[in-house]
Amino acid sequence: MIEKINQLKSRIAALTASSAEEVEQLRVQYLSKKGEISLLFNDFRSVPAESKREVGQLLNELKTLATERIASLRQSLLDKEEADFETSLDLTRTATPLPQGTRHPLSLVKAEMLDIFARMGFTIADGPEVEDDWHVFSSLNFADDHPARDMQDTFFISRNPADVLLRTHTSSVQTRTMETAKPPIRIVCPGRVYRNEAISARAHCFFHQIEGLYIDKNVSFADLRQVLLTFARQMFGAETRIRLRPSYFPFTEPSAEMDISCNLCGGKGCGFCKHTGWVEILGCGMVDPNVLEACGIDSGTYTGYAFGMGIERITNLKYRVKDLRMFSENDVRFLDEFVAAK
Ligand code: PHE
Repeated sequence: MIEKINQLKSRIAALTASSAEEVEQLRVQYLSKKGEISLLFNDFRSVPAESKREVGQLLNELKTLATERIASLRQSLLDKEEADFETSLDLTRTATPLPQGTRHPLSLVKAEMLDIFARMGFTIADGPEVEDDWHVFSSLNFADDHPARDMQDTFFISRNPADVLLRTHTSSVQTRTMETAKPPIRIVCPGRVYRNEAISARAHCFFHQIEGLYIDKNVSFADLRQVLLTFARQMFGAETRIRLRPSYFPFTEPSAEMDISCNLCGGKGCGFCKHTGWVEILGCGMVDPNVLEACGIDSGTYTGYAFGMGIERITNLKYRVKDLRMFSENDVRFLDEFVAAK
């Protein structure tokens, strides 16, 4: 019996297990009611009285050894599992993926437009949205009774003592620049502008513009045309054609409006261009000498050109947004469509 106990002892000391199931099997094999150790306890009855004390002690030791051994096998398996789990964790991963925003279509198009002008040497100029009459109208040769000065067309913040208003075009940034900088001046002025219009799919009380100004010696209308042609081709494709139609603005003389060949039908005529093959995109002209003088630039030495266009219009041509209101409603279903354009 003692020999049996010692044999079992050394077997148990050497037990190994590689899974929880194996540990359980060992428990059943040694410690369950019909397990090997329990059977030895049954045999204990037949041990002679004089050996009972010694054998009983050995049996108890054996049982403790087996219980501890199996518990420690179980524990080391659990420890290993935990360690494996930790090394397989990527702690640098974001816990839950963060929803990513998209750039607003107007920002995308604005950036693209500014890029094109930057490559042609234009720098960006900025100015306030809340303006005074001088920078928006008077310095730009608007007559006193020009309709733009009317409440119906312009948002006035106060009319007395001086007119304070929301700029109706970013030409005000051009006047501010001309007042302080010396020619040559070559700037583009992006920004939000406000007009007192009823909001509909085709008009809004605010929109965005990029206006350009170049003042130097010997600047001609041909220079203007070339810059605008380059812009149109880089923005809408190398096959794009332009045409300039005579127009009128108080601050330019001569003035023109520019059309590009419809980028939907390639100029053949379609519903979008009302079957003319052309779509209007901007106003432009040679800076009126009165404007140069009003801003302290000698109109005998310098000439210049200016142009201005709406970013919404260009965006519509690129992305076919049918309703202007979409740009300011912050509907994520609309904004999400520009994910790919990020
Ligand atoms: N300021 C004009 C507008 O807002 C655009 C323009 C700019 C026209 C420069 C000619 C020259 O409509």
